[in-house]
Amino acid sequence: MAKQVQFGGEYLLVRTIAESERLEMQYKAWQANIGYLLHPVIKQHDNMRIADVGTGTGIWLCDLADALPNTCQLEGFDISDAMFPSKDALPGNIVFHHQNLLLPFSDEHLGKYDVVNVRVMVVALSSHEWEPAVRNLMTLLKPGGYLQWVDCAAHECVIKGVPVGKEAINAQRAIDLFRKTVTSLGKAPNIALLRGIFQKSGLVSCEEKIYTLENPETRENVNTAVVVGIQHILTAAFKMHKLDEIRSIDQIMDLKEAASQDLRNLSCYYCYDVHVVVGRKV
Ligand SMILES: C[S@@+](CC[C@H](N)C(=O)[O-])C[C@H]1O[C@@H](n2cnc3c(N)ncnc32)[C@H](O)[C@@H]1O
Repeated sequence: MAKQVQFGGEYLLVRTIAESERLEMQYKAWQANIGYLLHPVIKQHDNMRIADVGTGTGIWLCDLADALPNTCQLEGFDISDAMFPSKDALPGNIVFHHQNLLLPFSDEHLGKYDVVNVRVMVVALSSHEWEPAVRNLMTLLKPGGYLQWVDCAAHECVIKGVPVGKEAINAQRAIDLFRKTVTSLGKAPNIALLRGIFQKSGLVSCEEKIYTLENPETRENVNTAVVVGIQHILTAAFKMHKLDEIRSIDQIMDLKEAASQDLRNLSCYYCYDVHVVVGRKV
């Protein structure tokens, strides 16, 4: 049974068990396309201190704990602890903190991290918050430390593989309503600007890699993560009274089911780009 829906400020997603499961499915699909946890330019060593900000379920940190020696210190930060894993299930070198990434971090964290990682802020931050977020996250880095930001242009999602002569009308309708909703709420940032924001904020050696989610083995999970994500975002917008087209939660469920049927019946898939941007603090 899902926990009760909670909201953190203008966060345009629900924080339920179903959303935790969706995030973990999405994470695995992205990882199968990206292929690494830390960008290859980041030099690894045995005593790294790494922060994951907006950590959600902490899944990236847990994978990192498996990949790095247990002498590394791994710390998750999030504005809400609703999706943090239970302490019993965690390796001893992971801890979690409650923190809004737009507010100053406490002194004990400043200038202490070799890597600060951020993943999937696309519907969490408003467009004007990306630059203040980058500048604030830089305060966590040691000189020479890296900011790594992995995100997507979810609102630019397209449908591929539709057979000639057919139309995925409902799958398209779901994307169109999602795009309209996040755009009207200021949550559709131009992800292509992120590397420029890194440079403008003073990070150097900035690089961007773009991964189109084309891997056939992950298509089904991407489809599920997109339709369930749209359901959760429309539900959050509906509960905030910011969704004029929708009259009830049932209508959102019908839209989700119709989109899923299109994807299944037409063997087509949702596809979007994931951007990995890294930059080093001087
Ligand atoms: C879409 S989830 C991504 C979670 C995780 N990074 C992942 O890749 O699965 C966004 C996360 O950012 C958190 N978040 C949203 N706004 C935040 C803020 N201002 N400061 C810190 N965390 C925030 C949310 O609570 C949520 O856990």
